[in-house]
Amino acid sequence: MNERSEFSNKIGFVLAAAGSAVGLGNIWRFPYLAAKYGGGLFVLIYIFFVLTFGFTIMMTEIVLGRKTRLSPIGAYKAINKKYSFIGIIAVVVAGLILPYYSVIGGWVIKYFVTFITGGYISATNDNFFIDFISSPVEPIIWQIIFVLMTAIVVLRGVKDGIEKANKVLMPTLIILTLGVGIYSMSLPGAIEGLKYYLIPDFSRFSIEGVLAALGQMFYSLSLSMGIMITYGSYLKQNDDIEKSVRQIEIFDSGIAILAGFMIVPAVFAFSGGNEQALSAGPGLMFITLPKVFHSMGLSTIVGSAFFLLVLLAAVTSAISLMEAVVSSLCDKYKIARNKAVALTTVFMIVMGVPSSLGNGIWSNFKILNLNFLDLMDFITNAVLMPIGALLTCIFIGFVVGTKVISDEVKLSSDFKKEKMFNIMIKYIAPIFIIAILLSSILSTFG
Ligand code: PHE
Repeated sequence: MNERSEFSNKIGFVLAAAGSAVGLGNIWRFPYLAAKYGGGLFVLIYIFFVLTFGFTIMMTEIVLGRKTRLSPIGAYKAINKKYSFIGIIAVVVAGLILPYYSVIGGWVIKYFVTFITGGYISATNDNFFIDFISSPVEPIIWQIIFVLMTAIVVLRGVKDGIEKANKVLMPTLIILTLGVGIYSMSLPGAIEGLKYYLIPDFSRFSIEGVLAALGQMFYSLSLSMGIMITYGSYLKQNDDIEKSVRQIEIFDSGIAILAGFMIVPAVFAFSGGNEQALSAGPGLMFITLPKVFHSMGLSTIVGSAFFLLVLLAAVTSAISLMEAVVSSLCDKYKIARNKAVALTTVFMIVMGVPSSLGNGIWSNFKILNLNFLDLMDFITNAVLMPIGALLTCIFIGFVVGTKVISDEVKLSSDFKKEKMFNIMIKYIAPIFIIAILLSSILSTFG
């Protein structure tokens, strides 16, 4: 059997994992949630969760990968035969997210191309976005381009593909984020937005906000979808896992907070302090922001830089999702990487079609009152991810015991936060995860 590929060093691993973590969630969800749930208060709660829960689950996943040197299904199975289904859930989540993530990735390419070719004026037209996403063919073409970009990197493997791409793309992303952020803060009226974004407003504390922070943390750190297990399986035996996790967390939270510096002041300045303008999701990114960029001048440069950075964030996340699926196929069915990449590519394109058409000609087709894209998002983020995380906590905390984790960590360094880890994984994390599960189901159907 071939020897398993490895990242060349810890930086290669940390950049790839951070590339996975930093994605659309950081840019279009974090700033909105922070603005909605009490500004700095939300940021503090979020960081607290990252350092405790996020730390615990991410450590677990990376350790499971490095210890077994297998992708998710095999990793759980190697630890205890009966539990490979937890790995299956993780890979299913990755497989279901991939197609619709690629549809959105395709939208981002379209906007980047529109801005860089100077067509931003049309992008500020109210119907531009809706007309585009509801048209039957064009979004699918952009989606296919996004899928192919992702597939080319994954095809080249761990060192020559994933590691190399992230080593170039992640620093570029940071520079672009800082550039757009500084520009946005220099706009008149930006200070008001900044205050609204960052000063803690304790009167807006709510349980709903706490659970939103927790849910965002799972999504943003790419937990519970087999990604960190897969990337962990390429980590060298002597690389310090605890330190790597800290660095990934700093990266991810840093970019999320900076995204707020880019978006909140600009939207505030543009809308005259209207909080409603800061809506979440596609509306903010594809409708409000193009208008904001247009209004502040330099739109070709700032708008193109912005959509390019979003594209980089999305591609590096999609690469990690695809790698989780591809490496599972390779491990489980013993097929070659190029075959697994080909299969996954076809699957992403075919499954992306209903996600795309659900915004247009198939919009009447609804399950649970959701269109296809929202349905996939709901099944993965609201249901399967928390279930997978809960099962992982129970599996490590009670079935096999936390020693499996600490022994592996200690092969390369001390385990400084071992006590906290043990308490979190056994008792605190499961209770909170059940709370997220209930709240996301209730809020969708309530
Ligand atoms: N962590 C990514 C983000 O914040 C989201 C993501 C989801 C990445 C699924 C990979 C897989 O946007």
